[in-house]
Amino acid sequence: MQFVDFSSAHGMLKSTVDSYPDRTAYSWFVEPGVTESVNWREFYDQVIEVAKSLIALGIKKDDKVNIISYSCYRWALSDLGITTAGGCTVGIYQSNLPKDCQYIIDHCDAVAIFAEDQVQLDKLFEIKSEIPDVKKVILLNGDHDDDWVLSYEDFIKLGKSLPDEEVESRVADTKSTDTAAIVYTSGTTGVPKGSVLTHDNITFTAQSVKLSGEFQDGDKTFLFLPLAHIFAKSVMYSSIIAAVPLTFARKIETVVEDIAVAKPNWFASVPRIYEKIYSKILGGAESKGGLALKIFRWAVNVGEKVSDIKLSKKPVPLPLKIKYAVATKLVFSKVQNALGGNVRWCISGAAPLNPSIAKFFHAAGILILEGIGMTENTSFTNINRYDNYRFGWVGQTGPGIEQKIADDGEVMFRGRNVMKEYYKNPEATERTFAEDGWLYTGDIGEIDDEGFLKITDRKKHIIITAGGKNIAPSVIEGVMTTSKYIGQVCIIGDRRKYLSALVTLEKENIEDYAKKNNIQYNDYDELNVNPEIVDLITKEVQSRNKEFASFETIKKISIVPEWTIENSCMTPSMKIKKNVIIEEYDEKIGEMYPE
Ligand SMILES: Nc1ncnc2c1ncn2[C@@H]1O[C@H](COP(=O)(O)OP(=O)(O)OP(=O)(O)O)[C@@H](O)[C@H]1O
Ligand SMILES: [Mg+2]
Repeated sequence: MQFVDFSSAHGMLKSTVDSYPDRTAYSWFVEPGVTESVNWREFYDQVIEVAKSLIALGIKKDDKVNIISYSCYRWALSDLGITTAGGCTVGIYQSNLPKDCQYIIDHCDAVAIFAEDQVQLDKLFEIKSEIPDVKKVILLNGDHDDDWVLSYEDFIKLGKSLPDEEVESRVADTKSTDTAAIVYTSGTTGVPKGSVLTHDNITFTAQSVKLSGEFQDGDKTFLFLPLAHIFAKSVMYSSIIAAVPLTFARKIETVVEDIAVAKPNWFASVPRIYEKIYSKILGGAESKGGLALKIFRWAVNVGEKVSDIKLSKKPVPLPLKIKYAVATKLVFSKVQNALGGNVRWCISGAAPLNPSIAKFFHAAGILILEGIGMTENTSFTNINRYDNYRFGWVGQTGPGIEQKIADDGEVMFRGRNVMKEYYKNPEATERTFAEDGWLYTGDIGEIDDEGFLKITDRKKHIIITAGGKNIAPSVIEGVMTTSKYIGQVCIIGDRRKYLSALVTLEKENIEDYAKKNNIQYNDYDELNVNPEIVDLITKEVQSRNKEFASFETIKKISIVPEWTIENSCMTPSMKIKKNVIIEEYDEKIGEMYPE
């Protein structure tokens, strides 16, 4: 297989612009239901404008520039503008608290910041005295009268008289081994680490993804994941190399509304979103009850039969095909249409997806291809293929990427997708690399003879009970979240006699349950300790315990408020932070283990 050796992200963009100048590149919403677009040529011209203005602003080669914003068109523009000017992009989640923004701005030595809006700007003013190296803040939306701040429009004016040669010479000076981005890890297990990603890491990975995916001419995608996370960023770069038009969601709250307009052929998401959709569909069907529920159950049953046959790669017999067509018309078309009606496949990554949820969507005619990657390998190593997939596995490696399992079960990777180092953290870099460029992942897994990878859990999350049993909690947690009443689960049990779990509730379905069962409450959080709700959740857990060996069953539960990004119990990439949760609920955990 042939990879093109691009010298930079700019070079990769240029090749797409040269091949498809008039094809739509990006779309975004100007108001609900209404989008505006640019083609690749227009995007490229605007990237050059940004690069010119950055140079005029005094950005030098290898300077670090932050982008603090939710994913949007100007994120893409700023990012490519920064690297075209020879700089390095460092994304920061718009949901980060000021102190977390400060940590990254300071740690990465940023000299300028693109900030989404007044909300982000207010955070920056709060920490201004702590980030003296930041010379300018460019406000992506709006205006603010202060020397430190430039509106986007004024920023673009800066570069107007700069000759093209200035940008051309920056592009010529950029080597594939130069740093294009420092991307901070999600912080699931501790303080985020800055992965130094080169232009080669980014352009190679985009190509490996393209070669692994089933892209068709005319495909469109839709992005709602945050671009500060490497997962979304890799999707964006893969869309550049594959020349796939990408529509940005307005915000996470409007995804459902926006996806119906964007009508993507494929998109990427994290498991938490699929789990939420699943619970909503299940909750909706069950609350209708009666005939509607009967039809729903019949359709799912038919769909699952079709799914099994498809998984065994056999043809679906005609009578079943006919039933499936009816099931689709009556039930599944609603699910498909809710995603815009054109989705051929979607990706799940960033955390484990429970196979039964993947199976449910497959039954409903939506193929979720699970993949895996980490910030340190530009977010891509393995993915299930459109014509060769399994649920519960993260698929085979992309072209050019090698995998192996260390003696203790840890998964290791090697390839041009693997980062150069952790920024300003030589100790961590040394711990993460073995000889000959192999990267330790911290994940335990197995590889079968077809090269499919299955992840057991994170090494750090493996529980060893007081009885000496080794337990991977993520599978058990995944099964528990298939309950439409359960939102999130964190299993406890390390060096304990038995397993217990902290559980959060799936709000909408619980409220519905409370209403139907006349459960009175003033404040929603009261439901966490309501005996009827505790009983409901206990039963949901107990019925799922049956899938496991006795030592893997959850003996006690404690219901706590939802873990969110805002309460720092979930990363902006939507993974629960177990160490934070365990510390926070130390007392509740203690109550589940009375002496
Ligand atoms: N499909 C998947 N199944 C299981 N785990 C996954 C999957 N995709 C990603 N992961 C997990 O996510 C990790 C990579 O995530 P990321 O680089 O965003 O930061 P993090 O590891 O969550 O945070 P930190 O390194 O700061 O603790 C992988 O090492 C793996 O543990
Ligand atoms: Mg990690």
